[in-house]
Amino acid sequence: MTPTVLITGASRGVGLELVRQYLARGARVLAIHRPGPTVPEALAALYAAHADRMRLIALDVRSTSAVVNLAARLSERIDILVNNTGMLMGTGFAPAGNMIGGGLRATLQVNATGPLFVAQAALSNMTRGGKIATILPIGDVRSLDLLDPDARQAAKAAVVKVMQSLASDLKPAGVAVALVHPGAVGPAPDGGEAALSLADSARGIIEVIDGLTLETSGQFFGYDGGSAED
Ligand SMILES: NC(=O)c1ccc[n+]([C@@H]2O[C@H](COP(=O)([O-])OP(=O)(O)OC[C@H]3O[C@@H](n4cnc5c(N)ncnc54)[C@H](OP(=O)(O)O)[C@@H]3O)[C@@H](O)[C@H]2O)c1
Repeated sequence: MTPTVLITGASRGVGLELVRQYLARGARVLAIHRPGPTVPEALAALYAAHADRMRLIALDVRSTSAVVNLAARLSERIDILVNNTGMLMGTGFAPAGNMIGGGLRATLQVNATGPLFVAQAALSNMTRGGKIATILPIGDVRSLDLLDPDARQAAKAAVVKVMQSLASDLKPAGVAVALVHPGAVGPAPDGGEAALSLADSARGIIEVIDGLTLETSGQFFGYDGGSAED
């Protein structure tokens, strides 16, 4: 049976690479990208090549009403959801320590509540054996850095507890939930080569999802299958 995979944050980075690799494995992919005047070029190119197994869904995960309405836009059975949206430092949304100016709300919406609402929407089309993987917004899930004034630390705490609770809620329904750290992907701070390629990160995430069971539901994983620590 061809699995159907719903992927958020599909416009670029790890999300786009997940779309590419799931398509290469023969999956059907529902790719969520942020609404805009045009579909991001690389995603549009994948769609042009795989229109028979792919659907593009424009959605801003910060919009609660749009995410709640997502359920009505999903008609196909969903086997796997990858919640991949995230905001990294320097994107303008999540400046360090921004607890007053609205940065926290945006960070929570993209990294924590958005993924929960997307999962709730997907659940209406997910059967027993379904899997939900949420990509962690920041590393080392086993401790919160209380000295780090980055709003993402708050988002990390929120998404970890939200997804663990979801895992517990969904176990009786036969749906497994994992938190996955993608590794350090992207340009190195010194402008040098990335420590980890997008392809290796996405491949590892897919393998983690392949191996996810109800017994391991609610756990943290690194992209390499190990415990999710930086
Ligand atoms: N790269 C790393 O080293 C690293 C480390 C730890 C954790 N992570 C996490 O891993 C995930 C993937 O990382 P990445 O490097 O591929 O991230 P990225 O290149 O920054 O991509 C983030 C994705 O999320 C989407 N997004 C952001 N806000 C959104 C919104 N409101 N509605 C819909 N989509 C939205 C972006 O869409 P647009 O193109 O429209 O902005 C983009 O597709 C993220 O969750 C990130 O936080 C990454």
